[in-house]
Amino acid sequence: MSMFDKLKAAAEKIQEYKKVTPKVGIVLGSGLGAFVDSIEDKVEIPYEEIPYFGETTVEGHAGRLILGKVQGVEVAVLQGRYHVYEGRSLDDVVFPVRVLGTLGADTIILTNAAGGINLNYKAGELVCIEDHINFMGKNPLIGPNVDEFGPRFPDMTYAYDPELKEVLKSVAKENNIDLKEGVYVGVLGPTYETPAEIRMFRAIGGDMVGMSTVPECIAANHMGLKVCGVSCVTNMAAGVEKEKLKHEDIKDQALKVMEKFSTLLTQAVQEIGKRD
Ligand code: HPA
Repeated sequence: MSMFDKLKAAAEKIQEYKKVTPKVGIVLGSGLGAFVDSIEDKVEIPYEEIPYFGETTVEGHAGRLILGKVQGVEVAVLQGRYHVYEGRSLDDVVFPVRVLGTLGADTIILTNAAGGINLNYKAGELVCIEDHINFMGKNPLIGPNVDEFGPRFPDMTYAYDPELKEVLKSVAKENNIDLKEGVYVGVLGPTYETPAEIRMFRAIGGDMVGMSTVPECIAANHMGLKVCGVSCVTNMAAGVEKEKLKHEDIKDQALKVMEKFSTLLTQAVQEIGKRD
């Protein structure tokens, strides 16, 4: 079955749960799931229920798609994402975002937990993704081009939409949230980086590093969707501080920033909802 038909099948199944035309699609990064509390009229669909959404792993629940409204704006939210380090194909990793586009979302907000490379950052900071560097050595568009989605050689000059960045920045300002701006370096993982790698990323213009977001941003741009992104700096990257990186600490830090993260996202969705 073609990718296009798989997406249609997934979207049709989702529409059986709730007739939706989301304006905004949101991908929640690890530890940032509490945002779902701000969704009204919720319908939750476990990923397992959606055809072609990727097999669940032994680790259990992969996640759920939540349909509903935020500040009156229809949204579709992916809580839990697939990563390349799990051994997933890039087609699987970007499938959920493509489904959001197939459901009708024209705007995608990507969020993630990231390590801070920029020495002006500190743990707990939120960063508007200015641009990215694909350091994964992979691209989800490798293979025959799906012409229904977009061109063979998509432009990435405005991969993170300038207008949406302004929305994020102005919402942050209005709510007294210190929102930095930075370049996200996408790596495969699952190891955290070495201090030498982090020095290299700093030298080439990276501000934060993480194991997601880049494939989804590429796939969404290919489909002509407008993308913006927010990183939560859960830790300073390897070598910045003496301590070793622990996944548990990183998760704790994400929980701590939830309140300002939720405010930023809900207000941004409201603002995006006012646009055509
Ligand atoms: N490196 C890569 N991915 C991450 C990090 C990090 O330091 N923190 C959270 N996700």
